Amino acid sequence: MIRPGAGRAIKTVGVCGAGGTMGAGIAIVAARAGFDVARQDLSAAALERSLRDTAGFFGKSVERGKMSAEARDATMARITDTVALDGLAGCDLVIEAVFEELSVKQALLRALHPVLAEHAIIASNTSTLSITEIASGCGREDRVVGMHFCLPAQLMKLIEMSPGVNTSDAAFQAAWDWTVAAGQQPVRTQDKPGFILNALLVPFNNDAIRLVEAGVAAPADVDRAVKAGLGYKMGPLELIDLIGLDTQVRLSEAFYPVTLDPRAAAPPLLRRMVAAGRLGRKSGRGFFDYGKPGMYGA
Ligand SMILES: NC(=O)c1ccc[n+]([C@@H]2O[C@H](COP(=O)([O-])OP(=O)(O)OC[C@H]3O[C@@H](n4cnc5c(N)ncnc54)[C@H](O)[C@@H]3O)[C@@H](O)[C@H]2O)c1
Repeated sequence: MIRPGAGRAIKTVGVCGAGGTMGAGIAIVAARAGFDVARQDLSAAALERSLRDTAGFFGKSVERGKMSAEARDATMARITDTVALDGLAGCDLVIEAVFEELSVKQALLRALHPVLAEHAIIASNTSTLSITEIASGCGREDRVVGMHFCLPAQLMKLIEMSPGVNTSDAAFQAAWDWTVAAGQQPVRTQDKPGFILNALLVPFNNDAIRLVEAGVAAPADVDRAVKAGLGYKMGPLELIDLIGLDTQVRLSEAFYPVTLDPRAAAPPLLRRMVAAGRLGRKSGRGFFDYGKPGMYGA
């Protein structure tokens, strides 16, 4: 039994930013594991789109024999969507996956605190920001934890779990236990920029863009070299197309000031592509052309 701070079990999970790349996947993980899920996003259109993607994902699971049609229907029935934060009032755990901007996340947590029950835990899916800073001033600093899923969340098992300075052991343990109950594989890290994966990945991905920018090689050749030479499953440029070029800019902007690593700074080519609307798979075109918008080629 998973018991957050005040002794209540986690039954209902909220996801803020559920219309986005990560939030949609995190909601799938929670619903698939049998939890009631309240999905929230500022954008009703993004929520609608991601609910269609979610139905499509579970539809494919049925086609591939990984899930029965009855289980799919029951899973979809556990999901509710809301634009208003009030729709999260009954949640025992709320996972936020909104834009990677400290002020946005801080404002969200401050607004969430009075909506949630005393025992509820807030987890942040931040990739590069400090959990302690995100929690600062929210009113429940002892019940805020880092819970960094990997892309695509519905397929990747790893979660980097980090306590902030004020996180209680009980809240951290309850959040950790929930990730296990949800079928994930947590790894503990300190509250340090980029945790493990993005400390490695943000500079590496920007280096790959700089190779393209400098004309050293075409995107497909950079990816081919990394896959064939380093044994990676995906090349950095196809990965950035999946992550979202706008998200790679935000990750860089959050990571650079706290590390002062020049490799973490967003390359000008990346900014130009975002300005041109080439956001990667979600817009149908990034370093590669996908024909139409869609995260997983559906
Ligand atoms: N994309 C990745 O590869 C990846 C991987 C791991 C973690 N993350 C982290 O997940 C978070 C989200 O990234 P993403 O790539 O899914 O972004 P995204 O742009 O795809 O989605 C963000 C969503 O949040 C919504 N939103 C923004 N502000 C909001 C608010 N105040 N309240 C409610 N909804 C709000 C937006 O409407 C959007 O639907 C970031 O913290 C990012 O660092 C991203």
